[in-house]
Amino acid sequence: MSDIINVENLIKVYPGGTRAVDGISFSVREGEFFGFLGPNGAGKSTTIQVLTTLLKKTSGSATVAGYDVDKDAREIRKVIGVQRQDTILDGDLTGRENLTLQGHLQRLHGNALKKRVDELLTLVELSDVADKRAAHYSGGMKKRLDLASTLVHKPRVLFLDEPTSGLDPQSRVAIWEHLETLNQDEGVTVFLTTQQMEEADRLCQRLSIIDHGEIVVSGSPVELKHQLGGDTITMSLANGDGGVKDRSKRIVSGIQGVTKVLDTETGLAAYAKNASALVPDIVRLFDENKIRLTSISVTSASLDDVFLQHTGRRIRSEELSKVDTWKGHV
Ligand SMILES: Nc1ncnc2c1ncn2[C@@H]1O[C@H](COP(=O)(O)OP(=O)(O)OP(=O)(O)O)[C@@H](O)[C@H]1O
Ligand SMILES: [Mg+2]
Repeated sequence: MSDIINVENLIKVYPGGTRAVDGISFSVREGEFFGFLGPNGAGKSTTIQVLTTLLKKTSGSATVAGYDVDKDAREIRKVIGVQRQDTILDGDLTGRENLTLQGHLQRLHGNALKKRVDELLTLVELSDVADKRAAHYSGGMKKRLDLASTLVHKPRVLFLDEPTSGLDPQSRVAIWEHLETLNQDEGVTVFLTTQQMEEADRLCQRLSIIDHGEIVVSGSPVELKHQLGGDTITMSLANGDGGVKDRSKRIVSGIQGVTKVLDTETGLAAYAKNASALVPDIVRLFDENKIRLTSISVTSASLDDVFLQHTGRRIRSEELSKVDTWKGHV
């Protein structure tokens, strides 16, 4: 497979001086589902805007489908679809009218356009409400219509900027399914940005994790999690001052099977292949050393753990879903 997106040492400095993208390099192969995972302000939208020719880069090089983002913007726009972070639908128009308008902008007309609009309404399951005003759609329906409007001209490469943010779990899964269909059945290359580990994990064949305008690590989700060396043991400490944390860290590091121990906001995260089996040992050792644990849980390593390992913090602080929990241990 050849590269359909190629980025080398891309830098974007905004007029105020913010280095939003600070020398990133990556490539995406034709047909690939590629992800950019990172927290607020990481530089995801800036990268998408440069690649979709909506924003001029400061330096470096970037090509899409072999075309240069600075010199060949018109050519690039013919082969890409872009879903921006904020929806750009016209609420006064119906779903069908929105898609038809988008078609006209892409120079499609007549029966061919009518057929394409029907196809897309079916794909995103909006046929039933096609003739209602978009302003009356739910958030999930708007996002699905937005997605459909990026597809009118059958793009080869689809750029999606947080396509499921703010959606309920059901609508999120519906969008994921449409994206998988597009990628797998129609061979559309997808470049997706997200802050959601679960989304990146489910959809992306390869991804880069981006933070403060830099790529901190790239690989397939499986590869990245595998590098952590096992499942995660998350420990919260009752009195997490520096001394206690350091002592706890030494204790956990000394346990056979533990491959790595990292600080978290509330305590520690340790990685081990036989993580569940080590929990009783940890609880006993902490007891003997009079260190109070408020909770200890074992989870499969996630992309959030990968982010933690590379940046020293979590993308978000919500608790991971727990497999085993010992709460309130004194
Ligand atoms: N038009 C702009 N002018 C100046 N600075 C900007 C502009 N747009 C973004 N920035 C800054 O550039 C950095 C990267 O922003 P960007 O929007 O690319 O992040 P992001 O990863 O898309 O974040 P989010 O997940 O919140 O959408 C941030 O520090 C942001 O404040
Ligand atoms: Mg953004």
